[in-house]
Amino acid sequence: MSEKIDSCSFCGKHKSNVDRLIVGHEVAICNECVELCDKLLKQRKINSKNISSITIPDPKEIKEYLDQYVVGQTEAKVVLSVAITNHYKRISSPENEVAKSNILMVGPTGTGKTLLAKTVAEYLNVPFAVADATTLTEAGYVGDDVDSLITLLYQNADCDLERTQRGIIFLDEIDKIARKSESSTVSRDVSGEGVQQALLKLVEGTKVKINPTGGRKSEATVEIDTTNILFIAGGAFVGLEKIVKNRIQGTAMGFGAKLASDTVVDYEIVSPDDLVKYGMIPEFVGRFSSSVSLHGLNKEQLISILTKVKHNFVEQYQWLFYQDGVELSFDQESLDIVADRTLKTKTGARGLHAELERILLPHMYDLPRYRKQSIGTVSITPKLVNTPTTLAQENE
Ligand SMILES: Nc1ncnc2c1ncn2[C@@H]1O[C@H](COP(=O)(O)OP(=O)(O)OP(=O)(O)O)[C@@H](O)[C@H]1O
Ligand SMILES: [Mg+2]
Repeated sequence: MSEKIDSCSFCGKHKSNVDRLIVGHEVAICNECVELCDKLLKQRKINSKNISSITIPDPKEIKEYLDQYVVGQTEAKVVLSVAITNHYKRISSPENEVAKSNILMVGPTGTGKTLLAKTVAEYLNVPFAVADATTLTEAGYVGDDVDSLITLLYQNADCDLERTQRGIIFLDEIDKIARKSESSTVSRDVSGEGVQQALLKLVEGTKVKINPTGGRKSEATVEIDTTNILFIAGGAFVGLEKIVKNRIQGTAMGFGAKLASDTVVDYEIVSPDDLVKYGMIPEFVGRFSSSVSLHGLNKEQLISILTKVKHNFVEQYQWLFYQDGVELSFDQESLDIVADRTLKTKTGARGLHAELERILLPHMYDLPRYRKQSIGTVSITPKLVNTPTTLAQENE
């Protein structure tokens, strides 16, 4: 008959010194040893993923994948796909150092910048982290400092140092860390510049000490070299058109006259100087050698976003209605009106969501009543777009 085991057979700690002691027939293991074993097993798995076995994707394949979810923005998709492919090439032969070319995506709100980043992340099998620049602060201030991006990437890479050092970081809302200048409408204070400076170091390549658990800096244990981490930055740069317009109008009168007389200034002709005027520091802009503009979406594209792309808005609401056994549909004319109204708000596809909420709210509120009153379909007509009304009978 075996005696009652009261300490870990692996580390020898007594059960009173650990959180849990799992006792088997003739052995016992404490929670700390279980955690350690788990880490060791994971480490083994990661190490066995050979970086050089990564197949380099065809940029066309990446673009075609993006096409399923993102409407239009062909140029941005191509630039992004090529940059990602090149990044894979760099990863698969680390000895052959090709300079990375970080990407800057500039374009109006609601045109798909964040969506592109998220979709590409789904496609990739290199570690990827998406972070919002607005949450970053200079080291020493309250908030996340820029090194937290690297910690996030490290965690997304299952704590594999090698893979982290060749990952991709998407920095969203980069325009929000612009330095405050007279010509911009940005409200962030001067510290935006400090964040840019700190980011610059990461982008350029530096060694960062991180604490893998995301805890205290003083307990940082892992050193990561950021030289080969690819950075993709995106921002709406509200008010940038004004800077571009001023530049065009202010320069070469004859040469620029044609452009200056154009009423619509697209983001296409944004120059690095414009971004500097906006409040980005020149060195920062300089490190993003591929810049790409996203375009405002037209009516047809908005309708595709409503009804055609994967996970389109209409399908999403149809699913919600379906939970109550109600079928939802829109006629073509209603979709036209929704797109027209959204175009006027100048919020890109973001406005579609607001429009649909407005139109469908009374129905969603009464879905349980629809069920009771056996109303099985909601067909949205122009009348219901212009004056959203419930189909439920009153006094129920
Ligand atoms: N080109 C597009 N194709 C499909 N859906 C889109 C497209 N652009 C925007 N959307 C949809 O609109 C919403 C907002 O898009 P997203 O977050 O990508 O905008 P953004 O360009 O990042 O805007 P912001 O500058 O305001 O952050 C998302 O729900 C997204 O699905
Ligand atoms: Mg965004």
